Amino acid sequence: MATINDNYLKLKAGYLFPEIARRVNAFAQANPDAKIIKLGIGDVTEPLPEACRTAMIKAVEEMGDRATFQGYGPEQGYAWLREKIAAQDFQARGCEVDASEIFISDGSKCDTGNILDIFGNDNIIAVTDPVYPVYVDTNVMAGNTGAANDKGEFEGLVYLPITAENNFTAEIPSQKVDLIYLCFPNNPTGAVATKEHLKAWVDYARANGSIIFFDAAYEAYITDPEIPHSIYEIEGARECAIEFRSFSKNAGFTGTRCALTVVPKNLTAKAADGSDVELWKLWNRRQSTKFNGVSYIVQRGAEAVYSEEGKAQIKELVNFYLENAKIICKKLTDAGLGVFGGENAPYVWVKTPHALSSWDFFDKLLHTCNVVGTPGSGFGAAGEGYFRISAFNSRENVEEAMKRITDRFRS
Ligand SMILES: Cc1ncc(COP(=O)(O)O)c(C=O)c1O
Repeated sequence: MATINDNYLKLKAGYLFPEIARRVNAFAQANPDAKIIKLGIGDVTEPLPEACRTAMIKAVEEMGDRATFQGYGPEQGYAWLREKIAAQDFQARGCEVDASEIFISDGSKCDTGNILDIFGNDNIIAVTDPVYPVYVDTNVMAGNTGAANDKGEFEGLVYLPITAENNFTAEIPSQKVDLIYLCFPNNPTGAVATKEHLKAWVDYARANGSIIFFDAAYEAYITDPEIPHSIYEIEGARECAIEFRSFSKNAGFTGTRCALTVVPKNLTAKAADGSDVELWKLWNRRQSTKFNGVSYIVQRGAEAVYSEEGKAQIKELVNFYLENAKIICKKLTDAGLGVFGGENAPYVWVKTPHALSSWDFFDKLLHTCNVVGTPGSGFGAAGEGYFRISAFNSRENVEEAMKRITDRFRS
């Protein structure tokens, strides 16, 4: 008799977004004339930059000619893309990252989940609360947790609360943890980490033999020149950190799919016999075995991000969403709401008014303004009393949604 991976039964059944969809659908059915504006899910809305499209069209043509046709590419990604990433995203910022340490993939979601393949099941794992849910669920699937309690917290994980009191940056844990997920700029709070904060994490990780998983999916949104874009800007990070990056939010590749993971060659963790093993070798083995690379066409599109036109177009795209975020922050502040994030990130984290719960505020916004956001409690227990509003939408929708909210909530 075939059996299943029972760990899947511990999952909280994809509670957040299906529940949002259920409530929105019920409201839409009862109010067919309501013009609902969705500022909930973090998907981009604006078209792909022209430089990327042009490069992909050319690549499609190459695939149609026997002389330039490409079959399987390197599992790690083409050298011409990895070299540009190494030079422009890392070396230009003083980070010692070599092209051979970069692995091209079809998404940071997959990579942040798949990375667990090369780690043992006996690690103590820390996540922030609130958190990008993929980090938690992939650990549940991998059998790294026990069951969830009433608050949705899984036994065996160390939850590090991020709140207004700590500027939405977790305190360094007093206990020893082995794997730590950090995401800056943060989803869902929009917070960023200073060099000092990241240095404290790097020092902690080096002192404890821990590995930091640094998710920089939103690094393009950093506007403050003092804020690091990469963990490798911090001295010693090569000895303790793996970094994840994505083309989803800077170049609008959410539907095109391309991302990258950096595994420094000197980075090690312990084998059962106590010996040090290079993680680069394990990840290279894992990717070569379970992954066959990102399509040539898509990698050519990603390469165009590093051309002069590509850089200008991406800047424009990111600035467009940042302007949306600025409008959201201003209008919600004018309406008397407590607002965080949104300056170096496409997410605005809102304190719910009148001590409303996250879901009560969700219902109120939906019913009175026909605007959809994401309840903070869906990202973790410490997100209760908060609400995430995404800047990924058209200007028209953002302005209309903010007008409805300010009209309704102006104190
Ligand atoms: C923090 C974070 N990491 C990773 C991802 C997923 O990136 P990708 O589209 O490359 O899979 C997201 C998407 O919303 C995200 O918020």
